[in-house]
Amino acid sequence: MIYLDHSSCTPVRKEVLKTMLPYFSERFGNPSSLNNPGKEAKEALDNAREKTAKVLNCSSSEIIFTSTGTESINLALKGLYKDKKHIITQKTEHPAVLETCKFLETHGFKVTYLDVDKDGIINLSKLENSIIKDTFLISIMYANNEIGTIQDVKAIAKIAHKHNVLFHTDACQASLLNLDVKDLGVDLLTINSTKLYGPKGAALLYKKNSIKMKSVMQGGGQENNLRSGTHNIPAIVGFASALELIQKEKDKENKRLTELRNKIIQRILKEIPNTELNGHNEKRLANNVNIYFKDIEADSLLLKLNDNEIYASIGSACSSAKSEPSHVIKAIKGEKAAKNSIRFSLGKLNKESDVDVLIETLKTLVK
Ligand SMILES: Cc1ncc(COP(=O)(O)O)c(C=O)c1O
Repeated sequence: MIYLDHSSCTPVRKEVLKTMLPYFSERFGNPSSLNNPGKEAKEALDNAREKTAKVLNCSSSEIIFTSTGTESINLALKGLYKDKKHIITQKTEHPAVLETCKFLETHGFKVTYLDVDKDGIINLSKLENSIIKDTFLISIMYANNEIGTIQDVKAIAKIAHKHNVLFHTDACQASLLNLDVKDLGVDLLTINSTKLYGPKGAALLYKKNSIKMKSVMQGGGQENNLRSGTHNIPAIVGFASALELIQKEKDKENKRLTELRNKIIQRILKEIPNTELNGHNEKRLANNVNIYFKDIEADSLLLKLNDNEIYASIGSACSSAKSEPSHVIKAIKGEKAAKNSIRFSLGKLNKESDVDVLIETLKTLVK
């Protein structure tokens, strides 16, 4: 098989699985219990928190473990103490942000959904001009999950702070990018484990200590009262270890993937007629190829690729369940492109020889 859906989920690395295994069985304790098994689990939780805090260059008290990116985003958007009622985001966010914003709109909040240009980038002057007295939060993703476009997070943070507004970034696709929250200047950051060779069922929200937040669900008060519910220790241990590993190797892996990605893009555009790249040429994730096949419906091409054991996707896995054309491609290129585009997302499972197989198969299928 050729797996080209790493932006949807990744296999757990062997060394990560090894760190997790004891916590399923012999070290099964609940970190909230004061007995010895509980203490052992608490130690693992503390270590995981310290590890992730080191990667993000923050204090361990600024890490809130959750179960998914969606949960972290809900907490970030709904949990802030706010006397103001206006949020700014963009049209190409993940549904985790867009649907949460829609929910908040039904509860008296106002949301500005910024347009993006044809490459998926927001206009920073328009962002600044959209800030009003009532704005308390800007939420703009670090890198887009469908087209791989990378936003200028540092510049957005500066604009936000100039106007005393908080800035949250969804970094679920940004595990190979700079995650130093101090350098980026972000106030809140979401990242999940699923996309970085960690297990499913773990994610985090970084929240600056100075920011007040209240829980969106009530319960036993874990995670400093912000995320009640028994900790998923194996997943959290695996997440921390996977995050540490991917950030350590990011320079090397970015280089390798960029070379593969560029080869695929160049060959598709040259050898397959009526194709176009979606997303920015340079400001894009090293692992993202998203192609508009002007004469072909993405659904049918995807199924044929699947029959050939080449696994790609139509943008976001989360929205494909709804079988609607991609809202991201629609925002940059319109309805037809949204129906005719496919995402090939690269990762550890890919090697140089995959390029030939992919291109030759695509050529035959498209013809
Ligand atoms: C950019 C982005 N944000 C948020 C999410 C949601 O993450 P999760 O599936 O862990 O809730 C995803 C997952 O596809 C994503 O790619």
